[in-house]
Amino acid sequence: MAIGGVLRPGHAQIRVMNLEEGIHFYGNVLGLQETGRDAQGRVYFKAWDERDHSSVVIREADRAGIDHFAFKVQSKSVLSKLDSDLRAYGVNTEWVPAGEMLETGERVRFQVASGHMIELYADKGVVGNGLGMLNPEAWQPMAEKGIAPTRMDHCLLYGPDIEKVEALFRDVLGFYKVEHIVLEDDKTDLAIWLSCSIKAHDIAFVRHAVPGMLHHVSFLLDSWEKVLRAADLMSMNRVSIDIGPTRHGVTRGTTIYAFDPSGNRFETFAGGYQTYPDIPPIKWTMDEVGAAVFYHDRKLTPSFLEVVS
Ligand SMILES: [Fe+2]
Repeated sequence: MAIGGVLRPGHAQIRVMNLEEGIHFYGNVLGLQETGRDAQGRVYFKAWDERDHSSVVIREADRAGIDHFAFKVQSKSVLSKLDSDLRAYGVNTEWVPAGEMLETGERVRFQVASGHMIELYADKGVVGNGLGMLNPEAWQPMAEKGIAPTRMDHCLLYGPDIEKVEALFRDVLGFYKVEHIVLEDDKTDLAIWLSCSIKAHDIAFVRHAVPGMLHHVSFLLDSWEKVLRAADLMSMNRVSIDIGPTRHGVTRGTTIYAFDPSGNRFETFAGGYQTYPDIPPIKWTMDEVGAAVFYHDRKLTPSFLEVVS
């Protein structure tokens, strides 16, 4: 088996300002499946084609944003090894006991230089995608409810010191840089896209003065046609669309950015290329930053840079 260590994004815990509105939005409009509620009042969701218990957890709070973003790792021994590697690297880690989140094993929690809380875990209860693992059908008719992405795919986080974040993700967690946007000095990265797989990104960061901010959590769709369908559903449901449907230069994905009722940006996207760790990072310069982000308009919108939660 070639893929090991950190396997993939596991879950995002997102703060919403009105829980009922959040449940309606994530359940009926985005079309995730609710899988549980806990004693703290958190509500758990998964995308239809995900097998693990939950990939989005929402909780009510006074301020929107992201509590933490978690990655699933290969095994408990990998989790222990990564914890000791993080400590040896000088990162303070904290073990969160199994069961603190529904159906989720013990988690290793730490803060990165951008101010974000990152977590690792090895175990999460399996609820399946409704198709089974033996002679399955091709898709689940129930999955047509709402936008119905197939999985929670990645997030983009805004904060300072992203070169330190990149070093930690590369040197300790085994990620590699797939693309980056370089500032006018031709040295300093404005933005980095990092992968632990063959996806064009599993997590991305943009340099920003305020630590710990969320730009978006992203959800995968099967096709450009489904991106268009998602835009139709956003309009029907009066969802605030930030931009799109359009295409990114970075990763080549087709995309829409929009906001949940609390102002957390989310993305629904399709496509993007596959990559491997031996391929050098693609570099974008500031004179083409517009095309890097929005390939058709070739210019950035102020909201894309300024609005975060
Ligand atoms: Fe994205």
